[in-house]
Amino acid sequence: MAGLIPQDFIDDLVARADIVEVIGRRVQLKKAGREFKACCPFHDEKTPSFTVSPAKGFYHCFGCGAHGTAIGFLMEFDHMSFVEAIESLANSMGVEVPRDESDRPARRYDELFDLMSRVERFWQQGLRENPAAVDYLKQRGIDGSTAKRFGLGYAADAWSTVLDKFGTSQEAIDRLLAAGLVIRKDNGGHYDRFRDRIMFPIRDVRGRCIAFGGRTMGDGEPKYLNSPETVLFHKGRELYGLYEARQALRQIDRFVVVEGYMDVVALARHGIDFSVATLGTATTADHLNRLFRLTENIDFCFDGDRAGKQAAWRALETALPHIREGRQVRFVFLPDGQDPDSYVNAHGADAFIGALDDGVALSDYLIAALAQQVDLDTVDGRARLAELARPLVARIPQGVYRELLIESLAQTVGLTSSKLEKMLGRTQAPGHDQPARRRPRRGPSLSGSAGRPSVVRRAITLLLNHPEAAASLDVEKIAGVSRPGIDLLRDLIETTQQEPNITTAGLLERWRHDEQGRHLGKLAAVEVPADEEFDPAAELADCLAQLALAGRRERIDFLIEKQRVKALDESEMAELRQLR
Ligand code: UTP
Ligand code: MN
Repeated sequence: MAGLIPQDFIDDLVARADIVEVIGRRVQLKKAGREFKACCPFHDEKTPSFTVSPAKGFYHCFGCGAHGTAIGFLMEFDHMSFVEAIESLANSMGVEVPRDESDRPARRYDELFDLMSRVERFWQQGLRENPAAVDYLKQRGIDGSTAKRFGLGYAADAWSTVLDKFGTSQEAIDRLLAAGLVIRKDNGGHYDRFRDRIMFPIRDVRGRCIAFGGRTMGDGEPKYLNSPETVLFHKGRELYGLYEARQALRQIDRFVVVEGYMDVVALARHGIDFSVATLGTATTADHLNRLFRLTENIDFCFDGDRAGKQAAWRALETALPHIREGRQVRFVFLPDGQDPDSYVNAHGADAFIGALDDGVALSDYLIAALAQQVDLDTVDGRARLAELARPLVARIPQGVYRELLIESLAQTVGLTSSKLEKMLGRTQAPGHDQPARRRPRRGPSLSGSAGRPSVVRRAITLLLNHPEAAASLDVEKIAGVSRPGIDLLRDLIETTQQEPNITTAGLLERWRHDEQGRHLGKLAAVEVPADEEFDPAAELADCLAQLALAGRRERIDFLIEKQRVKALDESEMAELRQLR
C-alpha cells in the first residue's frame, strides 16, 4: 500500500501539516517552551507527559511511549487507516492526494469495499441454499441468529461461482484479484479462491468486510483458508470479532483473546460477547494497543499443550511494554486438547468464565515460567532466575506494577527488593532517554555493548532531529564500516541528501512500513539540545569520523591478524601499508 501514494507527496504533507492544530482540534494542548503538552489521550494520566513538537512535526508520550507524526496521530486517535489519515490530512489542508496511475486498485477503495460486501451477501445466500453447510454449523452448535450476527456464509463447491457472478469485465476481474477473491492461473485464466467452505467475514472497526476466512467442512487442507494481505487487509492489525463485540456490548469491561474464528463464534453463541481472535498470527503490539484503548482487562486463552505455552510466552513478551498499574493481563490455559469452542460447548458459559477468573496474572506467569527453567534450591539457580528476569523487567514501564513484580521476584529468589533492584538496576527503567531498551527483538541493536548509546545511534538521533545537518556529510567515509544499524544510518543520510527539505516527520513516514520504523520514532523523541552553541552538522560529521576511524582500526587489526595466520596478497599488503 505504501507505494500507491507518491512518497514525496507524503514528505511534503507532513512537512506542511500543522501538527499542533491537528492534535489541538482533538486534545487540549498547552504551550510549554517550544513544545506543547497535554495529558496523553492514549493512556490514563493526571500529569501531562504527552508532548507535541511543531518543529519535528512529531508527538511523543513519555508515559506510554506513544509517538508519531500527524498521520500516525489520526490513525491512532481516529482509528483511521494509513490512506484515510493521509486523505483526511490532505483534505483539511485543501490539497488533493495524487495517485500513482499505474496502480489502479488504489483509486478503488470504495469499489473494493462494495465488492466485498456484495460477495459476503452472495455467500450468505449460498449458506441458506446449502443444507449440508447449515447442518455443519448446527452440528457445531451454531444457531441461525449467531450465524447471522457474524455474517457466516458458504462458498459453493465450484471453481468459478464468484468469478462468473462478479467478474463480468476485465476491470471487475482486476477488482476480484485486488480483493484476493480470485487467483490467476499461469495460462491467464482465473478461479475462485474459496470453494466449498464455510465463510467468516472479517470486519474492520467500522464493520466493513475487509477479508474472509474459510473453513472446510471435511478434512481438506488447509483447514482454514484466509484472504491474502490486500490493500484492505493487514493481518497483524485486525482482530476477528472486535467489531461484533463492540456492537454487542455498550461497555466493554474485558476482552479474552482466543486463537480461532470458531472460538469467537461459539463463545458468542453462549452469550460471551467479549472474545476476539488473532488471525493465525501471534498477538502484536498493534492488537494490544487496540484492545487496551477499550478496556483495562485482557485475558489470553490458550490450549494447554506445548504450542499453547509457546504462544502464551510470545504474548507475554509483547504485552510487557503495555502493562502498568490498573491494567490486568491474565493467562488462561485450558485442559490439553481443548479450545474455548470445545470447552464452552462441553461445560457451558459459567464454567468458561470461571476458567478465565482462575487465570494466572502476567507477573505470576512470568515468574513461574522462569522458575521452571532454573533450580531454585541453589544459589546459582536463583541468581540465574534474576538474570533471566532482567531483560523482561526492563521492558515494563516504570511504575507501581513494575515495583510489585520486582517484589515478588525478590521473594522468589530470596533477596530483599532493594538488593534485587540493584541487580536488575544494571538495566534501568525504560525511560525516554533509553529507547534502545525497548527495541523489538529483531532488527539491529543500536546501543553500544556496554549499554552506552553507540555512535551509530547518536548519529541517527542527531540526524532525525536535524535532517538539514546531514546535507554535506560524506557517506563514502563509512562505506566499508560494519556496525549494527549502520546501513540504516547510511540510508537515512542518503534520503536526506536526496530530499533536502525532508523533516523529521517525513523521515519517520518513509520508514513507517519498515521493521525499524518503530525504533526511529523513539530516537526522534530523544531531546537534542538546541542552544546556539550546539552545531548538529559538526556533531554528525564527528560521529562519521569516529565510525570511519573505528572502521579503519578494525580493518588494520583484521589484516594484521590475517597476516599472522596466512600471508596477505599483494592488494591487501598495499591496503595495509596505506591504512597505516
Ligand atoms: P485451530 O486449528 O485451533 O482451529 O486454528 P479452530 O479455530 O479450533 O478451528 P476448528 O474448531 O477446528 O474449526 C486456530 C486459528 O488459526 C488459523 C485460523 O485463524 C484458526 O481459527 N488457522 C488455522 C489458519 O489460518 N489456517 C489453518 O489451516 C488452521
Ligand atoms: Mn476448535
